Amino acid sequence: MSEKSQFASKIGLIAATVGSAVGLGNVWRFPAEAQSNGGAAFLLLYIICVFVLGIPVMLAEFSLGRASRSDAIGAFKVLSPGKPWWCVGALAVLASFLILCYYMVVAGWTLEYLVESIGTGLYSHLDEAGGSSLHGIFAAKMQEYVATDAKPLLFTYAMIAINIVVLLGGVSKGIERLSNILMPVLFVILVLLCGVCLSLPGASAGVSYFLEPDFSKITPGVIVNALGQAFFSLSLGMGILITYASYYPSHTPLTRTSVIVSLLSLLVAVLMGLIIFPAVTAFGLDKEPLQGATLVFVTLPEVFANLPWPRLWSSLFFLLLFVAALTSTVSIAEVSVAMLQDRLRFSRRKAVLCVMLPLFVLSALCSLSFGSMSDFKLLGMTIFDLLDTFTTDILLPVVSIGVCVYVGWFAKNKLLSEQLSNAGTLKARHTAVTMNIIRYAAPALIALVLIYNYL
Ligand code: PHE
Repeated sequence: MSEKSQFASKIGLIAATVGSAVGLGNVWRFPAEAQSNGGAAFLLLYIICVFVLGIPVMLAEFSLGRASRSDAIGAFKVLSPGKPWWCVGALAVLASFLILCYYMVVAGWTLEYLVESIGTGLYSHLDEAGGSSLHGIFAAKMQEYVATDAKPLLFTYAMIAINIVVLLGGVSKGIERLSNILMPVLFVILVLLCGVCLSLPGASAGVSYFLEPDFSKITPGVIVNALGQAFFSLSLGMGILITYASYYPSHTPLTRTSVIVSLLSLLVAVLMGLIIFPAVTAFGLDKEPLQGATLVFVTLPEVFANLPWPRLWSSLFFLLLFVAALTSTVSIAEVSVAMLQDRLRFSRRKAVLCVMLPLFVLSALCSLSFGSMSDFKLLGMTIFDLLDTFTTDILLPVVSIGVCVYVGWFAKNKLLSEQLSNAGTLKARHTAVTMNIIRYAAPALIALVLIYNYL
């Protein structure tokens, strides 16, 4: 077998892992969830979920990947040969592939909005309708960009093609290089837009609108949301972190990496809120219902149209979204690619094509869920919604529980301590606490989430 790929540098492996974690979950789901579920109270809860549960589970996934140097299925096969634990890995691969199918569509929208912002599309014909119905205009544009057949499909295909090019480049020359270039771009745009939005008149009202703590909003449902959001935005339960850690060199400190990745992902989520809400309140747009997709595709273009140089801000903002989406799609595609390379000994090229070519049909079905197939429902849901619900509500929690139970109870006792201490070369005083969380708290709480979703 060919030499196992590795990330070439410390910065590169962090950029790639942060690139995976920072996705649409942070950039649009988090701000909207936080604002409607208690502001700073939700943020606090979210931070607790990330640090108390998210990081230990992340460490469990990292340990599996790096100890086995294998893909999500192979990790279990290498560490417990002849046992059925590889099924947990198989579910992770399934989850990641199904998520890839629909996430690619949303990623395509970000590219579409980027292109339409750079060109004149998004901001054309604004004067004809008069300023008062800007909302209506952008809502109609969203309808055109998202809910017709041809256009969004074209951009989904473009996104698949970009992913293919990056993945064919391999781990260090494709994924790592892409992340090394794009992650700094993402942070620069983020800080720039934050500066612009926070200096708008009335920005402080936006900040309090976003973060005003309201502990009375913290209900069991909100706790379940926060936990689900934390796990999704750390890319847990998808096999991504097992796969990426299999490319980490043996001297990489796993704990430090997990803390850096979590902090950066948290930072992006909070900065996004500090971009969105001051902008929205500055123009009195907080009266409209603010929800994930409409918030970024309708309300924010409305904000940009009110600023000088709307196309500049809009292009930067959608470039940010596009970068976040792209680095996430390659990470989730890599799970299946690595699996085919390691399990079936496919060449990189064959593996990439086998994973990506079916998407031209499967993602198309998800894209058409907003267009001519919107009436086609299974279990009362469009194909897009069905995949989203089945993966986030069922598969991801099941995989995370599987990982915790395996690492906590069935894997070789020393797996975690050896990985956290890099075979004894690092101090890892937190190993016992981490192990207890992986054994008891994490699986129990994730199981509660699973049950709660179905009550
Ligand atoms: N953390 C990612 C996000 O917030 C989760 C993800 C990764 C989803 C890769 C899809 C693909 O969007």
